[in-house]
Amino acid sequence: LSFFICSSFFLLNNAAPENKIVTEVCQKVREKNLCLSSLSAEHAGQDAKDIAAVGLIAINVASNNGSAISVFIKNTLVDREHLGPSVEQNFEDCAENFDDAMQELDDALELITSKDFKNLKTEMGAAIDDADACAMLLNQSGGKDLELFNKANIFRQLCSIAYDIANIVAPN
Ligand SMILES: *[C@@H]1O[C@H](CO)[C@@H](O)[C@H](O)[C@H]1NC(C)=O
Ligand SMILES: *[C@@H]1O[C@H](CO)[C@@H](O)[C@H](O)[C@H]1NC(C)=O
Repeated sequence: LSFFICSSFFLLNNAAPENKIVTEVCQKVREKNLCLSSLSAEHAGQDAKDIAAVGLIAINVASNNGSAISVFIKNTLVDREHLGPSVEQNFEDCAENFDDAMQELDDALELITSKDFKNLKTEMGAAIDDADACAMLLNQSGGKDLELFNKANIFRQLCSIAYDIANIVAPN
């Protein structure tokens, strides 16, 4: 009964129960607030039992965010007449950056499953570079698109959370 009351309490408050490991890990990454808000919102975040489980969720969160951004880029390009030529080119280039990043995140999922944190760091570093490459293009005068720029920056931060988690486990 107390479990039921507890669960109802959380549901009514629309807040995920805090997981101690998620909270601990998020204190150690650079993007603490985004880490807490994005990982706690995941159902799996409530049952995470070790740091690898938290890392797995972080990769999934980044991956879901990146696929949604890929869809946004492709949908925007469907209506490309509304874009200026430089913005259009930037969206084309960003589409490639995000395709690469999604591949790296797929590889990252396999690496964390086999607990290969060293190569996981390399893979997440590559995903961060891809997000940066897109953001840098969008940040140039002539080709600015603030919406995609902001999305790419959040995606970069989500990738950095998974990178930092791998770095906690494999610092060298
Ligand atoms: C990506 O994640 C951020 C932070 O959780 C969220 O605000 C944003 O809506 C997500 N973007 C997409 C395209 O899903
Ligand atoms: C974007 O460009 C401005 C100057 O135009 C620069 O100060 C800023 O660091 C750039 N940001 C990124 C993420 O490239």
